[in-house]
Amino acid sequence: MVAKRQDADLAMWPNHDARQTATATLERPAKPTLWLVDAQMELASCVPEEGVGAYDRLKEYGVGPLRQQRIDRAYFKMPAEERDARIWELRTQLGSRLTILGHHYQRDEVIQFADFQGDSYKLSQQAAAQSEAEFTLFCGVHFMAESAHILGSPDQHVILPNLEAGCSMADMAKPEDVEAAWNTLSDLGIRGIVPVTYMNSAATLKAFCGRNGGIVCTSSNAPRVYDWAFDRGERLFFFPDEHLGRNTGVRKDIPLDQMVVWDPFLPLGGNTEEQLRNAKVYLWKGYCSVHARFSVAQIAKARDDFPDVQVVVHPECPLDVVQASDFDGSTEYIIDLIRAAPDGTTWAVGTEINLVRRLQAQMPEKTIFCLDPVICPCSTMYRIHPAYMLWTLEHLVRGEVVNEITVEPAIADQARVALDRMLSVP
Ligand code: 13P
Ligand code: SF4
Repeated sequence: MVAKRQDADLAMWPNHDARQTATATLERPAKPTLWLVDAQMELASCVPEEGVGAYDRLKEYGVGPLRQQRIDRAYFKMPAEERDARIWELRTQLGSRLTILGHHYQRDEVIQFADFQGDSYKLSQQAAAQSEAEFTLFCGVHFMAESAHILGSPDQHVILPNLEAGCSMADMAKPEDVEAAWNTLSDLGIRGIVPVTYMNSAATLKAFCGRNGGIVCTSSNAPRVYDWAFDRGERLFFFPDEHLGRNTGVRKDIPLDQMVVWDPFLPLGGNTEEQLRNAKVYLWKGYCSVHARFSVAQIAKARDDFPDVQVVVHPECPLDVVQASDFDGSTEYIIDLIRAAPDGTTWAVGTEINLVRRLQAQMPEKTIFCLDPVICPCSTMYRIHPAYMLWTLEHLVRGEVVNEITVEPAIADQARVALDRMLSVP
């Protein structure tokens, strides 16, 4: 494995080589135009799911997004200043009755209104701590809003401004397919399996983990969750992100041949009985269409162009990309790492473009650019637009709750067990 420069203080991946923690102060190199180091404010119009074949997989599952009702086009045609002023006004009117949460992948036009910003873990903690506000406007994606509803108090309303803000990775694990895989493993007599679902999954899958002795993890606590799970069983069934599951397994020194991929479209998930019996980790065949785009070739190019560049990627990237990087971690980790670095340092970042360009704008004294020159946003996060925020807030001040995200109580109770386990992992 390639030695990595993970900073020991910031790392949640304890196995990383921390020998080269120093972040050298460098003279800023000339910027090759390909990286668009200064010009990443324009978002590409590409659809990341198409680039990595996620559409085909979702079609196989027959998954379509939830439908958002059409809102008056006037909301989109309104000048941004007028729209923003109205949102601020309504927000002031609602006062402490409203909290706005924003994931780091949201665009600046949305994030400017957030009371709290965070990664998935921090936002779930925030939702659990929230006792006052009657309404939570969740500027993120569907599974995050569901978790906020489950962790919040029963009289709170969680609202997703655009119902079509889902997550293609979460959609790759259908509860009935996960249940079928679980039953197959059980029928083979394989015991001691602890189910672990990534936060990016439907509430029904969190409930599945809750009732089967399992747990939820996020990208910021996955190694600690693996420890929790291996304290309780000999094997782990991880879904829906194959890459986060494998990257975490490698951190925990699990040999690659003991981590098998479970493809729900193949008998025995595409494995032999022997492979299944020898495995320590079953990895669901799912991936993030944004992070699957990053490649080792992009890292090599960044290192050629900027000899002193430091590369940090999200652990939803494939293993070879994570191993070729210097650091990897959740969105919160990436932010903390770059913020703590000295001025003049250069960073190539393998994560969603809205976060990268915000870091760039906030730290002009550092050179920060996205590893992927096509710079795609997460197309589902991007569906949250200030126009929808205004539309939902106008309804709220009139006493009408639109786009409320709820989870039926029996599922919510079981999902809460798995989420609470996660929140209690030290
Ligand atoms: P984190 O913010 O937890 O790192 O997760 C990234 C992500 O993909 C959210 O969908
Ligand atoms: Fe889902 Fe990937 Fe978007 Fe996160 S970045 S919401 S995992 S598609």
